Amino acid sequence: MVLETTFEAMKYIEVFDQDGLRAMKISEQEAPQNTDFEVKIAVHAAGVNRADILQRLGKYPAPAGISPILGLEVAGEIVAIGRQVQGFQKGDRVMALLAGGGYAQFAVVDYRLLMPIPKHLDYIQAAGIPEVFLTAYQTLFTLGALRPKEQVLIHAGASGVGTAAIQLAHAWGAQVSVTVGTDEKVKFCQKLGAHRAYNYKTQPWSTLVWEDTEGKGADVILDCVGGDYVVKNIDCAALEARIVLIGYMANARAQDINLAKILQKRIMLKGSTLRARSLAYKRELIHSFNKDFKAAWAAEELKPVIDKVLPWQLADQAHQRMEQNLNMGKIILTIS
Ligand SMILES: NC(=O)c1ccc[n+]([C@@H]2O[C@H](COP(=O)([O-])OP(=O)(O)OC[C@H]3O[C@@H](n4cnc5c(N)ncnc54)[C@H](OP(=O)(O)O)[C@@H]3O)[C@@H](O)[C@H]2O)c1
Repeated sequence: MVLETTFEAMKYIEVFDQDGLRAMKISEQEAPQNTDFEVKIAVHAAGVNRADILQRLGKYPAPAGISPILGLEVAGEIVAIGRQVQGFQKGDRVMALLAGGGYAQFAVVDYRLLMPIPKHLDYIQAAGIPEVFLTAYQTLFTLGALRPKEQVLIHAGASGVGTAAIQLAHAWGAQVSVTVGTDEKVKFCQKLGAHRAYNYKTQPWSTLVWEDTEGKGADVILDCVGGDYVVKNIDCAALEARIVLIGYMANARAQDINLAKILQKRIMLKGSTLRARSLAYKRELIHSFNKDFKAAWAAEELKPVIDKVLPWQLADQAHQRMEQNLNMGKIILTIS
């Protein structure tokens, strides 16, 4: 007897070595099949993240059991649904947090990591939400315990995560300071809701944060830079500050940390990567995020900030733009 197999091909972005570079091209492989708790999404748009670049360069491999295809967030339409899936059906417009597999025509994901796309947003806008808004939410609230009226300092303010964090903190009633690398980004972040924005290339931001908060300092600091920012963060941290490290774009190592200041200010220093978190953690994060900010989305107080939209055939240009620190907000790939 010949067993019948269903093979559905899909296009995806493959990373390969070319002249010593890690290049990308569109290739074909079998489409993933959803399990009982998963849905299959026909991907219309995928968000580009710093982590994709690291993964492309071989520095941030997908966790065990996760698709090695790049891409941590997508928006699209549900085309197949597992038997245990609740609350979603075929044809629904959804955005999803993925641990991998987004740069492809189809992605499968546990239905508890889906969010319906707000009616006023299209697929391109929606693809710029899950990874950065959930990272910003986790950093500021779950880990940073940010309270209204507190001072928050957000590094890389014009990044995808930064633009989400500015809006969430602002909507929460916190006082927002950011650091960025150009004067154009200073203005951009102020327009988005930052009360103070410092160009770290020309201004002593740590001293200024301290002075501009009248010697109180920052209660919560979102740091994705590391290196010498660690000492400067401690310098401008408030009493009982929460410093949350989510990246180390400058350096994974820090020197000359004065532990006495951490003790005296009773500083809490935390670190986290969202991708490696359990399904239960991510599900709870999405639940809390929706609870706290659903009304703000509906009222259009929050918006994904889209820097550039490119067809996925130009994924290499998208990565180059991000590697050169040119983007202000999200770069989105449209998938065809
Ligand atoms: N841990 C997690 O769960 C998690 C999840 C998502 C993202 N992240 C991290 O969050 C950060 C932002 O991600 P994203 O995708 O939103 O990034 P992005 O849009 O690519 O923006 C990153 C920005 O950081 C700034 N930057 C780069 N190198 C820097 C350096 N050495 N010193 C100071 N600023 C620097 C640049 O802006 P300027 O022009 O202002 O320098 C750059 O445009 C990344 O570090 C990423 O790995 C962590």
